Amino acid sequence: MTHEIAVIPGDGIGQEVTPAAVEVLEALEIDFEFVEADAGDAVKEETGEALPQETYDLAASADATLFGAAGETAADVILPLRTAVDSFVNVRPAKAYPGIDAVRPETDLIFLRENTEGVYAGHEDRLTQDVSTLTRVVTESASERLAEFACDYVAGDDHDGFSIVHKANVMRETDGLFRDTVKSVADENGVETDQVLMDAFATRVCLDPEQFDVVVCPNLAGDVLSDLAAGLVGGLGLLPSANIGPDRALFEPVHGTAPDIAGEGIANPAATIVSAAMLLEYLGHDAESDAVHEAVEGTLEDGPRTPDLGGDASTEDMTEAIIDRL
Ligand code: NAI
Ligand code: MG
Repeated sequence: MTHEIAVIPGDGIGQEVTPAAVEVLEALEIDFEFVEADAGDAVKEETGEALPQETYDLAASADATLFGAAGETAADVILPLRTAVDSFVNVRPAKAYPGIDAVRPETDLIFLRENTEGVYAGHEDRLTQDVSTLTRVVTESASERLAEFACDYVAGDDHDGFSIVHKANVMRETDGLFRDTVKSVADENGVETDQVLMDAFATRVCLDPEQFDVVVCPNLAGDVLSDLAAGLVGGLGLLPSANIGPDRALFEPVHGTAPDIAGEGIANPAATIVSAAMLLEYLGHDAESDAVHEAVEGTLEDGPRTPDLGGDASTEDMTEAIIDRL
């Protein structure tokens, strides 16, 4: 069976790291059909649109999408692309790698972040010169869908359970509904959970990240806390992510276009290559996914490494070293 993969490099180093990840996928014995499409600042300058309809349609029909990064138009590109794949959960691993400088080298976390609602549902108003408001949306259905995903995730990947991170002591209705719904789905599935207030979580994860494993949170909390965890493992340059929908999914590095180094051929391809490893797992190629993870880990440990990791290798050197290990 051929998998159709939409490849959307975008701007800046997206143009460098996305082809590197495609090279890694091409090195595997899997039948992929890659279809490339434009999005971001450059295509907006040409056509007036940051996300051309054909790019949206491609993401909405491909089996999976690999996205690089977009510049100033990032929000105009990535939010609709997540809608195109109907993504309800953002999976963000934050894992420290051997040989890489990390604040907390023992960190190994998976954030499962609600990806459609909360304060990012888009209901903001400017009522008067003095007052602006925001409506926070939490639904039972979205919380259930996330919780069901989390239960399958912990069962499939051999985790003991998950932590529900929330602030239901203050946001009683919205986070109360979130917490109670997620907890009851977990109970029905026999999955163990614990509950942590999001502010306390921020402190505890800095002091001792090993007390946590899989973390399930509402949209904004997941955004902020997973970036905090990124700081614990050595910055955004190594972090992958997956936006999962019911029938398709989009994979992207957490970092942006890195305008300070774009065009120099020295961007670190690891985050995008690990995102491609998540794509492999999503499509059911678990052995190949593990092999790519191991090849990246080995390369990060032994080199060659790009300058952001203290080395002097190019994107191509590092990509080739990863492919050689495969
Ligand atoms: P950034 O992630 O692009 O860069 C932050 C710092 O990390 C820079 O010093 C950069 O050189 C370094 N860096 C990031 N990824 C790297 C890699 N793979 N290899 C080596 N070094 C790397 O974030 P910044 O500077 O806040 O944003 C730059 C542009 O990217 C902005 O226009 C922003 O809108 C966009 N952006 C897009 C995102 C997306 O498309 N998902 C996400 C974040 C930012
Ligand atoms: Mg963020």
